[in-house]
Amino acid sequence: MSKKKIALIGARIDGQAGVVLDVFSYLPDYEVVAFYDSTPEFKGTQIRNIPVIGNIYDIAREKIAEIDFFHICIGDNKARLEIFHFIKELGGNFLTVIHPSATVSPSAHIGEGCFIGAKSVVQNGAYISEVCILNTASIIEHDNVLGKASQMAPNCTTGGRVKVGDLAFVGIGSTVLPDIIIGNSAFIAAGTTISKDVPENTTMIGYSAKVHRKNIYQDINS
Ligand SMILES: CC(C)(COP(=O)(O)OP(=O)(O)OC[C@H]1O[C@@H](n2cnc3c(N)ncnc32)[C@H](O)[C@@H]1OP(=O)(O)O)[C@@H](O)C(=O)NCCC(=O)NCCS
Repeated sequence: MSKKKIALIGARIDGQAGVVLDVFSYLPDYEVVAFYDSTPEFKGTQIRNIPVIGNIYDIAREKIAEIDFFHICIGDNKARLEIFHFIKELGGNFLTVIHPSATVSPSAHIGEGCFIGAKSVVQNGAYISEVCILNTASIIEHDNVLGKASQMAPNCTTGGRVKVGDLAFVGIGSTVLPDIIIGNSAFIAAGTTISKDVPENTTMIGYSAKVHRKNIYQDINS
């Protein structure tokens, strides 16, 4: 059986493209045949013997049919969603790339073109929309809903039934309590604990521990 031909959009080998390319070393049925990237200096170069063609928006319509699947390695959520729509309109297909060490519940829905990194967990009943990035060791708990082109950074964790809006970003090591709703295009900084709903287009940073009005541990043991 011939290998499926993959084109990666975004060629930052020291960024998301490097993380994604690494996963393909575990996937023998696929061959990365091209990178597309709008950075002028990248055009015409090669990355690990794979040619960097140029800006994806300049792709010839007939080239789309030569590629079995596209995957977008771009951390900018808005850019990722725009490119997804552009390629879809030209008839292209997207591959969801899942690291073999990730755990995805059979009852979870994973949208087209997502990335699920090493040691990530997607629990039962979760709904992951198209072109989401779930980076290394992110834990998406049961019955979460992740909006289009949202992004979960390494080692972030959500509780059950969390909703993350379209284009939202949850930073490295953040914790989102159960039932929280994070609005569209919200940005959760690295290491932040989210204990209240987050309005759309809002940036949240930090959480300082404080003495609670109740002593929870004493209450549950008395
Ligand atoms: C929120 C963020 C974008 C802030 O960027 P910025 O606006 O450029 O902020 P600065 O770096 O200028 O820092 C401003 C202040 O906020 C503090 N700060 C920045 N990020 C913070 C964070 N995550 N938690 C607590 N404080 C933070 C800085 O120490 C600095 O404090 P100071 O004013 O006392 O010196 C960034 O720090 C962040 O958390 N990015 C997410 C990174 C991530 O998860 N990447 C995933 C890659 S896979």
